[in-house]
Amino acid sequence: MRFGPDILRQADLLATISEEPGRITRTFLTPQHREAGELIAGWMREAGMDAHFDALGNVVGRYAAADAAAPVLLTGSHMDSVVNAGRYDGLFGILSPIACVRDLHRRGVRLPCTLEIVAFGDEEGVRFGVSMIGSRALAGRFDHSVLDRRDAGGVTMREALHAFGGDAEAIPSLARTNIAAYVEAHIEQGPVLLNEGLPVGVVTSIAGGSRVRVRVEGLAGHAGTVPMPGRRDALAAAAEMVLAIERHCAERADTLVGTVGKLAVAGGGAINVIPGEVEFTIDLRSGDDAKRRAALAAVEAQCRAIAQRRGVTITWEPFFELAAAPCDARLQARLAASIAAHDVAPRFLPSGAGHDAMEFAAIAPIAMLFVRCGEGGISHNPKETLSAEDAEVATSVFLHFLEHFDPRSLR
Ligand code: HGY
Ligand code: MN
Ligand code: MN
Repeated sequence: MRFGPDILRQADLLATISEEPGRITRTFLTPQHREAGELIAGWMREAGMDAHFDALGNVVGRYAAADAAAPVLLTGSHMDSVVNAGRYDGLFGILSPIACVRDLHRRGVRLPCTLEIVAFGDEEGVRFGVSMIGSRALAGRFDHSVLDRRDAGGVTMREALHAFGGDAEAIPSLARTNIAAYVEAHIEQGPVLLNEGLPVGVVTSIAGGSRVRVRVEGLAGHAGTVPMPGRRDALAAAAEMVLAIERHCAERADTLVGTVGKLAVAGGGAINVIPGEVEFTIDLRSGDDAKRRAALAAVEAQCRAIAQRRGVTITWEPFFELAAAPCDARLQARLAASIAAHDVAPRFLPSGAGHDAMEFAAIAPIAMLFVRCGEGGISHNPKETLSAEDAEVATSVFLHFLEHFDPRSLR
């Protein structure tokens, strides 16, 4: 195999770069971000690319076309992780294209496009609670107000970026205005390819998402002296809201998923105190934007009704929304042709997970190549797995796509 084993070895090396011993957690603008980025930039240079950190901490590799005026084909994915992550989410979409360039460079082949591979510094949004920071900047949609967001330690993104060596004033200059297309390889993070015995698939569309921060305020009190009927228990109210969200989405499971991934009692809570203030997050997704927005309005109304009945108040703070992103039919067909050229039946499937590709949908044609995950397709979990054989097929398909991609076909 030309690509698979090296990709897994590189992913194993990156997996050792973590903020937490014994598990993988690598977040934005940390020393681990810097260390992983330097490693990736080194691999890019070894493959024959120019590589540098940009003003926002993304690592940008460039494999120039023979013609300096050639259009740019953008690819890449994110090098940050969720907490206690797997080792392939994001990274496969960086390591696989680098392996392609290494092969092209060894053969002395230049593409009709200049290929840029970007390792985005933040897609998961773990440290500052805002996701897709890197890709949003390159898509020209960076919202400077996020620079004032603080991490758990009270450090603002602006302060962290300055300490990292970035340059907040230069962020607008990162916007790409002339890319021919954006094409991303990513692990599927689901069971479809695994269940159908397929190593790769073509993404048709990427589900849209809404995220809300909800704060529930009741009345803290003595766990032993406040009678049950009079309580304004913020945690019990939040728990009822969480179950209402789950029930609403479960009843529409064919088009909707809803998750409360974080819930905390203000100050940590105490065993003998009735919780007075609780904060939780909501993540709602659907391939159909109208259904997602309708669901969001419905669960908000249910949360407000629960709050009223329980005598607590809620603050409802939407902080993230991304529309569902359709993948370009011509690029899908091109990826399918590259898959068929490897004697694999092209399988088209939607992505329930969000990806950096979504940010580029407004400025260029986008497409995604999925590679099979093992272990039931699990992801955002250290059990995430990818075989060397599947990494090999996916990279060979991606290389075939790159060598046969003609930017004029998108005009
Ligand atoms: O949440 C997502 O879908 C992605 O992993 N950021
Ligand atoms: Mn992820
Ligand atoms: Mn990802």
